[in-house]
Amino acid sequence: MSASRLDRYAVIGHPVAHSRSPFIHTAFAAATGQQLIYDRIDAAPERFEVTVREFFAKGGKGLNVTVPHKEAAAVLAGTLTHRAQIAGAVNTLWQSADGKLVGDNTDGVGLINDLTRNLDVALSGSRILIIGAGGAARGILGPLLEQHPSRMVITNRTPERASGLAALFPATDRLTALPLEALEGHCFDLVLNATSASLSGALPPLPRTLIGPTTIAYDLAYAKGETVFTRFAMDHGARAAYMGLGMLVEQAAEAFSIWRGVRPKTADVLKALVAAS
Ligand code: ATR
Repeated sequence: MSASRLDRYAVIGHPVAHSRSPFIHTAFAAATGQQLIYDRIDAAPERFEVTVREFFAKGGKGLNVTVPHKEAAAVLAGTLTHRAQIAGAVNTLWQSADGKLVGDNTDGVGLINDLTRNLDVALSGSRILIIGAGGAARGILGPLLEQHPSRMVITNRTPERASGLAALFPATDRLTALPLEALEGHCFDLVLNATSASLSGALPPLPRTLIGPTTIAYDLAYAKGETVFTRFAMDHGARAAYMGLGMLVEQAAEAFSIWRGVRPKTADVLKALVAAS
């Protein structure tokens, strides 16, 4: 089949040159015998809508959406899945049979699959702390609550944003928002860093009591070797600390199976990414 006839997919972001999505989806396609092309599209925010519309008008089959466009994609999509509605953000777009743009958010399920399937972390009955109250935190709150933790706390440098996110889930008393300084003396089974602070080598002021010998730390961001957050956790005696490469691969697997109807295996792709990072 000529390249021009192959189904086209892409990741759209700004910047997007660093994105591992083309590597991941190309590897999934090879492993599942699917014929497709997967590109990167760099679109500044003011070009986002027109670029998405052009992509689908020219027959494109699906887009992954990354920073800074996830909220804009949720506004653009005519139909949102339930989890994308709750997240207020979309990372996966496709067209329905009647030409409507459909948006989903696979980040939360990607995190849950990485934690439970790849890392064997038990979530049911656990005490979970989420640090950060931006888009990344919002995307994981609903899927984490569905795993029935005994208690979930959300904290943030700007406490009002954490209270705002907790208020999106009025039906549960298991989720509370606390300011960073109110965390002194609390300990958690799982501490998730959903801030963008690690990307600039920063860390919010975290009380050391958060981390105990059985605590698992997980940074949704990833960097070569470690992040300031995973280093902090290990220095304070955490049982283990992980970065978000597994979540990245798992959210991609979910998008791939929506688009192609085939669920790819993730272990080899994750191994290759870890080796390359
Ligand atoms: P994203 O979509 O990646 O979540 P965002 O919506 O800009 O991006 O949110 C970034 C998050 O990282 C916020 O929780 C932000 O805290 P504020 O709400 O107080 O801004 C947090 N963050 C970013 N840099 C930080 C830093 N240096 N220290 C602490 N928190 C930081």
